[in-house]
Amino acid sequence: MKTVIIGAGAMGSLFGGLLTEAGADVWMLDVWKEHVEVLQKEGLSIEWEGCTRIIPVNATTDMHKPGKADLIIIFVKSLHTQVAADTAAALLAEHGVILTLQNGMGNADILAETVGGRQVLAGTTAHGATLLGPGCIRHAGKATTCIGMWREGDSHPAARVADFLTQAAIQTDMVEEIRPIVWNKLLVNIGINSITALTSIQNGQLLDLPQTRALSAAAVAEAAAVAEAQGIHVATDMVEQTFAIAKSTASNRSSMGQDVDALRPTEISAINGFIVREAKRLGIDAPVNRTLTTLIETLQAHY
Ligand code: PAF
Repeated sequence: MKTVIIGAGAMGSLFGGLLTEAGADVWMLDVWKEHVEVLQKEGLSIEWEGCTRIIPVNATTDMHKPGKADLIIIFVKSLHTQVAADTAAALLAEHGVILTLQNGMGNADILAETVGGRQVLAGTTAHGATLLGPGCIRHAGKATTCIGMWREGDSHPAARVADFLTQAAIQTDMVEEIRPIVWNKLLVNIGINSITALTSIQNGQLLDLPQTRALSAAAVAEAAAVAEAQGIHVATDMVEQTFAIAKSTASNRSSMGQDVDALRPTEISAINGFIVREAKRLGIDAPVNRTLTTLIETLQAHY
């Protein structure tokens, strides 16, 4: 299954590296020249449990280089999904599929509107990876990836991709209904990302004070109410799940925290901002998510 990864940040590089290591025909496509040059000249360096290994990979900034792909995996930040979708549309082979494993909500819909719903898979991955510098990542933790067709229909493409990833040591489950799982992950990001970004703390420190625990729980509860109003049944213990993930990723800075630290635009619009827009549409009040969104937007505007 010829594969192109669009967005070779920490997670894109990890998937690209693991698939290449397993013998798959993979290209990593990214706009960051310095990173791509190191990947081309020196290969991808993956640090795992204190050991580092180098994997020779195919990487490029030129979207015409990889040729047609049977599988395209999107890992760009949600701000860039439309650009990635247009690139993916040009690269997708006739019976190919696109998989988004990005944070936030709205990515799969953008892809489906660009290439057609039957070719779009969505999912979540709980692998942890940190970008250490150009060409260099740390694989922080192995965990399950879960994928499914975004819009109803034949689930065989999702099953094929799940097998393909699992054979490359990326343990992947295929589910018939992916939406609740993508929502569950959204709720985790809602409960962790903006609060850690605003307060300069690591994920685990969210649990240290009753104040931040309460803020996180309130943001998650508001988002769960929006999900229910849309007919999506998220897990009933999402606050506990969010706290468990804050604990298991205790020493990580959330992706939004890393964006704010590096003065990069964040994914706020696809995370808490998405809840604010949906709540408004449904006539639900979401003051906690509105405030968190406003504060991150303010921070970004004054970088
Ligand atoms: O966006 C992130 O940082 C991650 O999705 C998570 C799970 C919050 C861990 O840092």
